[in-house]
Amino acid sequence: MNREDFPLLKTGIIYFDNGATSLKPKAVLNSMNDYYENYGANIHRGDYDASYKASEIYEQTREICRDFIGAASKDEIVFTSGTTDSLNKIIFGFFKQYLKKGDEVLITKAEHASLLLPFMMLEKEIGIHLVYMPLSEEYRLTFESFKNSVTQKTKVVAIAGVSNVVGDHRPLKEIGAYCRENQILFLVDGAQSVPHQATNVLEDHIDFLAFSAHKMLGPTGIGVLYGRKELLKKMIPLEYGGDMNQSFTSLGEVTLKDVPLRLEAGTPPIAEVIGLRSAILYLKEIGMEEIAKQEMYLKKYFLEQVKDLPQIEVYNASVEGGNVIFNIQDVFSQDAAIYLNHFKICTRAGAHCAKALKEELPVQNTVRLSFYFYNTKKEIDTLVAALKKSDTLYDIIL
Ligand SMILES: Cc1ncc(COP(=O)(O)O)c(C=O)c1O
Repeated sequence: MNREDFPLLKTGIIYFDNGATSLKPKAVLNSMNDYYENYGANIHRGDYDASYKASEIYEQTREICRDFIGAASKDEIVFTSGTTDSLNKIIFGFFKQYLKKGDEVLITKAEHASLLLPFMMLEKEIGIHLVYMPLSEEYRLTFESFKNSVTQKTKVVAIAGVSNVVGDHRPLKEIGAYCRENQILFLVDGAQSVPHQATNVLEDHIDFLAFSAHKMLGPTGIGVLYGRKELLKKMIPLEYGGDMNQSFTSLGEVTLKDVPLRLEAGTPPIAEVIGLRSAILYLKEIGMEEIAKQEMYLKKYFLEQVKDLPQIEVYNASVEGGNVIFNIQDVFSQDAAIYLNHFKICTRAGAHCAKALKEELPVQNTVRLSFYFYNTKKEIDTLVAALKKSDTLYDIIL
């Protein structure tokens, strides 16, 4: 890994907002440019070389994604516009048909709006019950909490692999194995886990997985929906149009293609899929274990540096993973983020799209640092120096 690979770092920013989106290496940008400059045709439609090449790389990317998340078949990989799109397709295209009134969905208050809100809509529409599994110390989800929440009515467990606020790595393997044994479906929001740790949907018995390319070095506008084939085949397309149908007549006789194409109506984001391909190849070159290790190392280093600063309150110090949520004493979190911006330090302040977690946290809002492998100790030193001077905060920002 070379920090020179990331053009945005040349602007002098210190980027600790990787949970929102990651930086993009030149390899990703170049591959997308190469598509537009040298073979920018549509896929699956043209009988000429540029279209053959675009189609081949597009389908190759499906295989690269399959390998990256340990799926059984590349036909289980559907390209979407991102995690939110994937989750909505899974919840409205599959679970809306599968779940019945009174069925229970296990979830937590720490989940992102993109997972919670579609299920809340189903709660209103068909009368399912969302059951919030209790969070344990430092807002983690434990296997015990999950197991104690299961009842005869539990039909689905829907959780993030890694929470975008607390950053805890959920016990996916144990929960997945229990679900499979007990005919409970397991949906994982992988927006924060797939970019930061090795993923294996088969080993973890994951039935559905959603993730976004832009949080793992790739471009915006492209994500992945993984579904176990027999379940994916039962999913209802939420969009109809070109490339997803086999044939149709004016009499309304419509034959759709098989999955995954049935679930990819219209011209897909081809350049973005090509960018995702380069992003995964880049991550694989570094190794997901290395990435997880470096993030944990950075978090530990940060905690060590602030442990004697009484004005810094960290809420998730003992949680593994590369997220820190904290506040500067008596400072509104957004003011803290605006102050840090004066040092070109990018952080995120607020409730981080997990607004139900406010009901559990002792504070309404926090500042979030979300590290990625390209962050350094030196960057943390600059942050800590700024935090040490935070008594001047209001002089600087007002
Ligand atoms: C845990 C989690 N789920 C879902 C999402 C939504 O991702 P996107 O905005 O890429 O659709 C995010 C984004 O921050 C997230 O952190």
